[in-house]
Amino acid sequence: MNRARITGTGMYVPEKVVTNFDLEKLMDTNDAWIRERAGISERRFAESKVGTAGLAYEAAKMALQNAKLEPKDIDLIIFATLSPEYQFPGSGVVLQEKLGLPGVPALDVRNQCTGFIYGISIADQYIKTGKYKRIMLVGAEIHSNGLDLSTRGRDVAVLFGDGAGVVIVEPSDDPDRGILSSHLHADGRFARELFGENPGSLNFPRLTKEMIDDTSIYPYMNGRQVFKHAVVRFCEAIEECLKANNVSPDQVKLVIPHQANQRITEAVAHRFGYSMDRVFSNIHKYGNTTAASIPIALHEALNEGKIEKGDYVVLVAFGSGFTWGSVLLRW
Ligand code: ACO
Repeated sequence: MNRARITGTGMYVPEKVVTNFDLEKLMDTNDAWIRERAGISERRFAESKVGTAGLAYEAAKMALQNAKLEPKDIDLIIFATLSPEYQFPGSGVVLQEKLGLPGVPALDVRNQCTGFIYGISIADQYIKTGKYKRIMLVGAEIHSNGLDLSTRGRDVAVLFGDGAGVVIVEPSDDPDRGILSSHLHADGRFARELFGENPGSLNFPRLTKEMIDDTSIYPYMNGRQVFKHAVVRFCEAIEECLKANNVSPDQVKLVIPHQANQRITEAVAHRFGYSMDRVFSNIHKYGNTTAASIPIALHEALNEGKIEKGDYVVLVAFGSGFTWGSVLLRW
């Protein structure tokens, strides 16, 4: 079986920077509260009409260039997002159109903050079996136009930002390097602890004025439940991928967690006794970009020289569903 490897990364965030002070003008919040509770100073908001695949397209061009490939080399697109342009179809085909790849399959993944981990696991299986050879895996989100940016929605709205990250997955030329294993989990009993209730197929009609008035068109989060479960599941998932490969926590060069909240990241680092330079963080700049956060972080970690050939790198996520999972890479 082929070992799969990430051969190129790319990222894109919109130019518009929205600071905590900008949010203070929209709602009753303050910079100190947001930084203390979540570690976020600013985030990016996309302009109208750009679309999630529009952000992904910019990141995709960078990833292709870094992998020394052209769009025509790609034989599968996997697109993880909870914020597609349309109710249907998913953003995968919108990106495929932009890349000029008619006929190439486009698979959409709906696993929220864990979407990139689910996506990399799918890519890994396809490369292993030889079914596809050059897979473009995308995590991209536009949250800004789906948030309640008034005081009513402040507990959720201050956390999220827009962005896109892309990786190219190909067979590895070195059997010891690449994706060593992936581990996926979900527990639907907690589906409604962090969710976007409406519009959805549960109600007839799907969208009513009442849904807009009662704010159920905006994301709902039980913050305390999310925090509690996230710390436990992040730790379990890291342990699982290390154990599966007989790698000790000391051997890990860098953990790249989904950028959920700096306090969650710090709690996870603390459990493993890791100093913060071994657990990557860029949430202060971008907020929580859900499916995009790990590929953006991976791209930045590589550019900052934090990962070298042969290093063990853990990717780990937890999010709505609840879903969680991890991947161990040998770079
Ligand atoms: N600005 C100012 N005040 C706010 C804001 C805000 N943006 N949001 C909420 N508050 C207020 C609340 O109304 C409440 O006020 P009250 O006491 O007068 O009722 C107060 O702040 C609550 O503050 P805390 O005591 O800190 O509450 P708690 O300890 O429950 O923390 C928090 C809330 C920060 C949301 C916490 O539960 C948390 O960090 N949860 C994790 C959620 C998270 O990070 N999710 C990430 C996204 S999901 C994912 O990626 C997995």
